[in-house]
Amino acid sequence: MTKKVLVTGGAGYIGSHVVKTLGEKGYDTVTFDNLSTGHKESVIYGKLAVGDLLDYDELNEVFKIHKPDAVMHFAAHIVVPESVEKPVKYYINNVSGTLNLLKAMKENDVNKFIFSSTAAVYGIPEEIPISEDSPVKPINPYGHSKAMVEKVLEDVSRADGLNYIALRYFNVAGADPKGRLGERKEDATHLITMCVRTAAGKRPCLNVYGTDYPTPDGTCIRDYIHVDDLAEAHVLSLEYLLEGGKSDVFNCGYSRGYSVFEVVRAAKKVTGVDFPVTLAERRPGDPPVLVADSGRIREVLGWKPEYDDLDYIIKTAWEWEKVLGSKI
Ligand SMILES: NC(=O)c1ccc[n+]([C@@H]2O[C@H](COP(=O)([O-])OP(=O)(O)OC[C@H]3O[C@@H](n4cnc5c(N)ncnc54)[C@H](O)[C@@H]3O)[C@@H](O)[C@H]2O)c1
Repeated sequence: MTKKVLVTGGAGYIGSHVVKTLGEKGYDTVTFDNLSTGHKESVIYGKLAVGDLLDYDELNEVFKIHKPDAVMHFAAHIVVPESVEKPVKYYINNVSGTLNLLKAMKENDVNKFIFSSTAAVYGIPEEIPISEDSPVKPINPYGHSKAMVEKVLEDVSRADGLNYIALRYFNVAGADPKGRLGERKEDATHLITMCVRTAAGKRPCLNVYGTDYPTPDGTCIRDYIHVDDLAEAHVLSLEYLLEGGKSDVFNCGYSRGYSVFEVVRAAKKVTGVDFPVTLAERRPGDPPVLVADSGRIREVLGWKPEYDDLDYIIKTAWEWEKVLGSKI
């Protein structure tokens, strides 16, 4: 029988790609989203229920109507500097919102859960590449909010038999290769999005924050993962749980890092635009290097990324930026 997945935040950047992938693989989906940063046009498969996680009755009603078999939870606030300025906003949405969701799941006998966690739970890691067994030591409220939820999941799993996968994403980038979806947030801060928006003339210049890090070219190194490879990791996690797999935590990255300068060089090459770059001071709390050890997800779920190619990731983001045109 066709399985139905409730996807919170399915109108957002990553959630919309996962809804697309689920739809293409024959799953039924119901996106639950308050459209605070998401867009209804981004939900290209299944149904959309507009509602807020913080409204328990509204959420519970969606469970009663749609009777999902599993939940994927993307809805959250995601901007690290804003979380430092407005921690309560972040803890309410990211932690209380998730608690409401877990309560509704229990009330409606749904016990399969896939959670959007983040490399930010590692804070400033001691070892590179970072394995899932590295200490969880976030350094900002955003990272803490995700680490808190991971802790809650452990407890709920033990107490109520919840089966969950927490996926710790590294730097998610790129767009749907068919140009239907991509990052739409006007205030997006991710490097590849900023590069293509600067190349498109929508930003005056690209800021490089810090050129004196202990890395070969002095700029920060990150592990960029294409959003569709991440979507595939979600589908594999779902299948694993549906087949009785046990709760686990997986890093999602390619285990390969690129420096900011390397990304900028690749973006100039792919877009053909020699856009202006400004060298700026370091931002507080940026670790020099974040690269995943992704051995566990490859081994346990058999995840095989298809788009592990920086130029290709940038190309899809660039194509999407052109589709968006003057809308952003
Ligand atoms: N983008 C990245 O590189 C990255 C990295 C690590 C983790 N993550 C995690 O992935 C998830 C998705 O991130 P994204 O980049 O797609 O962000 P996004 O802002 O595009 O998507 C979040 C979605 O959740 C919705 N939402 C927020 N609060 C809600 C609420 N209370 N009720 C209902 N809907 C709500 C928004 O409208 C939006 O559609 C987040 O949980 C984020 O923490 C993202």
